[in-house]
Amino acid sequence: MIDALLKVRDLKVHFPLGGGLLRPKALVKAVDGVSFDVPKGSTFGIVGESGSGKSTTALAVMRLVHITAGGVMLGGDDIGALQGEALRRVRRRFQMVFQDPFASLNPRKRAGDAIQEALELMDVGEPAQRPEMARKLFLQTGLRPEQLLLFPHQFSGGQRQRIVLARALAANPELLVCDEPVSALDVAIQAQILNLMQRLQRELGLTYLFISHDLGVIRHMCDQIAVMYLGKIVEQAPRTGLFERPLHPYTLALWSAAPSFDPGARSRRDRIRLQGDPPSPIDVPAGCRFAGRCPYAEARCHAEPPLLREVLPGHLVACHRVSDTGVPMYKSAV
Ligand SMILES: Nc1ncnc2c1ncn2[C@@H]1O[C@H](COP(=O)(O)OP(=O)(O)OP(=O)(O)O)[C@@H](O)[C@H]1O
Ligand code: SF4
Ligand SMILES: [Mg+2]
Repeated sequence: MIDALLKVRDLKVHFPLGGGLLRPKALVKAVDGVSFDVPKGSTFGIVGESGSGKSTTALAVMRLVHITAGGVMLGGDDIGALQGEALRRVRRRFQMVFQDPFASLNPRKRAGDAIQEALELMDVGEPAQRPEMARKLFLQTGLRPEQLLLFPHQFSGGQRQRIVLARALAANPELLVCDEPVSALDVAIQAQILNLMQRLQRELGLTYLFISHDLGVIRHMCDQIAVMYLGKIVEQAPRTGLFERPLHPYTLALWSAAPSFDPGARSRRDRIRLQGDPPSPIDVPAGCRFAGRCPYAEARCHAEPPLLREVLPGHLVACHRVSDTGVPMYKSAV
């Protein structure tokens, strides 16, 4: 069994709405019981519609939102339980890369200074060594040393994301949490950044938690993928299993919505058109959260929440109508 660098256990992030923190009028159940393991050196992807809880999961892993319940373990450290200096020390081991590289960089700060500032903040190296360290990080991320003196607006979008990566790598982290890292970039540039991230992963042994709503990006990058719907993982599998044999009706619907991912081998009958919006995370349905939009829903689906269970090696699904041996039973019904 490969050792997991990141372990997330029954993670819940509920945001109180109205009425004050102690007696909120309602709870937004943004993440509602999510568990997964990310082996060292691998990439774990999270995909799902807007509002499914992807970013909140990422923020919880980074301890940037309050964890309502559950655990986040990085190596042997329980991130949720750490405070003060202990949390600061562990923070060096994980870094986050956001979607918009422009918003992540101070427009008045030269790129080299931004990197040196990160080194200083993380207490990496001696002050006299930091300019050379910044130069090396620039080279490592495909930037030229003379560009260290430029301001963010003097870089292209792709180059800015390279600066963000260089800064994230300053403290030699083990885990990079990437939330839609290429969504703001042109398609051609996206491929360059993704390839750079893959090279950095190989060279530095990095582990990625990788969030995207783009199935092409997810398929290119991820070893394991979780599909989230309304705060829960509804299906999780290795890349090949998930793309070649999706089992959950919601995954089928996502694949059907992206024509290039609707494998030609599957018949038209398998296509599910996703209609309407997901229900509110304040008022989650009692049974399967997808029941209101699922063409295969039956009475039980509305009453009983399906458990996420392993139906094929490494392939987990939460659907009443998938058998314990990974056979979708809903197909014969339509
Ligand atoms: N600070 C907050 N307070 C209240 N509700 C929040 C807060 N942050 C997120 N939410 C809600 O939690 C749910 C999950 O949001 P999240 O940003 O995690 O979704 P997402 O999957 O990243 O979506 P997107 O693809 O649009 O980025 C949404 O319904 C959102 O409105
Ligand atoms: S449990 Fe029922 S409603 Fe939910 S995805 Fe499966 S068939 Fe559809
Ligand atoms: Mg998001």
